[in-house]
Amino acid sequence: MIVVVDFGSQTAHLIARRIRELGAPAELIHPENVLSEIKKQKVRGIILSGGPASVYEKNAPTLDRRIFDLGIPILGICYGQQLTAHLLSGGKTVKDRVREDGPATLVIDRECIILRGVSPHSRIWMSHGDTVIKPPRGFELVAHSETISSAAMKNDAKKIYGVQFHPEVEHTEHGQLILRNFVELICRVKLSKQKLDKTSIISAIRNKVGEKHAIAAVSGGLDSTVAATLVAKAIGKRLIPIHVHSGLMRTGTTERVESFFKRYLGITPIILNKQTEFLKALKGVIDPEQKRKIIGKLYIDLFEKECKRYKSVGFLVQGTIYSDVIESKGSKHSANIKSHHNVGGLPKDLKLELIEPIRELYTDQVRSLAKELKIPNEFIFEQPHPGPGYAIRIIGEVTSERLERVRKADEIVMEEMKKAGWYKKVLHSFAILTGTSSTSVKGDGRVYGEVMAIRIVSSKDRMTADWTRVPYGTLQKMVSRITNEVPGVSRVVYDITTKPPATIEWE
Ligand code: XMP
Repeated sequence: MIVVVDFGSQTAHLIARRIRELGAPAELIHPENVLSEIKKQKVRGIILSGGPASVYEKNAPTLDRRIFDLGIPILGICYGQQLTAHLLSGGKTVKDRVREDGPATLVIDRECIILRGVSPHSRIWMSHGDTVIKPPRGFELVAHSETISSAAMKNDAKKIYGVQFHPEVEHTEHGQLILRNFVELICRVKLSKQKLDKTSIISAIRNKVGEKHAIAAVSGGLDSTVAATLVAKAIGKRLIPIHVHSGLMRTGTTERVESFFKRYLGITPIILNKQTEFLKALKGVIDPEQKRKIIGKLYIDLFEKECKRYKSVGFLVQGTIYSDVIESKGSKHSANIKSHHNVGGLPKDLKLELIEPIRELYTDQVRSLAKELKIPNEFIFEQPHPGPGYAIRIIGEVTSERLERVRKADEIVMEEMKKAGWYKKVLHSFAILTGTSSTSVKGDGRVYGEVMAIRIVSSKDRMTADWTRVPYGTLQKMVSRITNEVPGVSRVVYDITTKPPATIEWE
């Protein structure tokens, strides 16, 4: 196991992801837990992530100094390197007056194992305020950049290394090689690419569940479908799929869930038709976080009530994937942007054991597993829909009229994206009711109606996203159709804000 100590960097989880992609197990942990984690499992290497703090800030996250004496290899990245220099004697980190964010050139001055194979001049990505100006005793500086002399440092005897740049981001030219050198040559971890083996996943589920029953919450999204399918392949009709029809999902979702489970797995799912309850619970609510909390709680209450009817059930199946685990854990040292209700919001007093068969996988791996399981393409290539559904795409109150408006516009966007051949090329394409009104002329009359926005974004990991340059003609078709076909809409705008600063969803 390689542990990644999370100091709150936006890319801390990317480090763990890169290590896993290399073929070694990696986990994100809080700085306070390093010593206890090391006692629990065989840790072969420690990576200290970056973070927004300065080592000189009051309450800046820190480490127990004894970690540096355990003989376990350490790689400090950005804040991780600054903290290493700050904590070990002889080292000095200073607070810089000017931040450095973006591309820079790494120039290698001295041989260093973690830089083996990296070209003498290569592109790196920096994002820092503080800088190490003196390495700790026993360390040597091995590389510099245009602006700093401490782009990388080493202590071969203690197997402790530091880099000021971010090897985990795709813009650092040899980033993956540097991480590989650390894991393979320093930590001596034998890399073996995890091959997805559906047979062993299924037989592990079978052994775990034994003769009991399992319940699965199935939303119609890819993750919960794959998880439930794996369990169904293991225990057949002892799986009880439950689908809550909230009325906040795309048209046809419930029908698709029903027909998939019946036809493909021979299991009739339980459908809870609760559209009215959701609308009632959301009446008068305009605060986005409150919306999320209400929806999340209602899902859980309904599900919990249903589960109690089945006495022989011992397990609950969840389609948690690795990025959910990371995002819901979040970081003690980074800001909570939004509360995702579908992770961690488990019914508490059910006393069911969890089965999370795809917990270790990323979206692309879930997709290939879905293909192997022969799950229909409409599940695999469907764009993801957030748990709170249209409620977070309606700014202001969710009413049945506004829900219909956003749903209709969403369908138009989707149809036009498909017609233009763009649907599968982007992560999301959807419509938002912005909560603003404006004037339009329809026929010969003045109509004061709602302003709708279209958001189309591309992103690999959803951490960052760019707006998509779809052809103007396609946008024009969407706008004409929405203003003509959706009653109550006066105007449509296109959102060209990247993430960051804007999030993908408006709420
Ligand atoms: P943001 O808006 O945070 O969205 O940039 C990033 C990704 O997460 C999805 N999203 C959610 N998914 N429950 C979900 O299942 C939620 O509460 C939720 N909020 C945002 C969003 O659609 C995008 O893919």
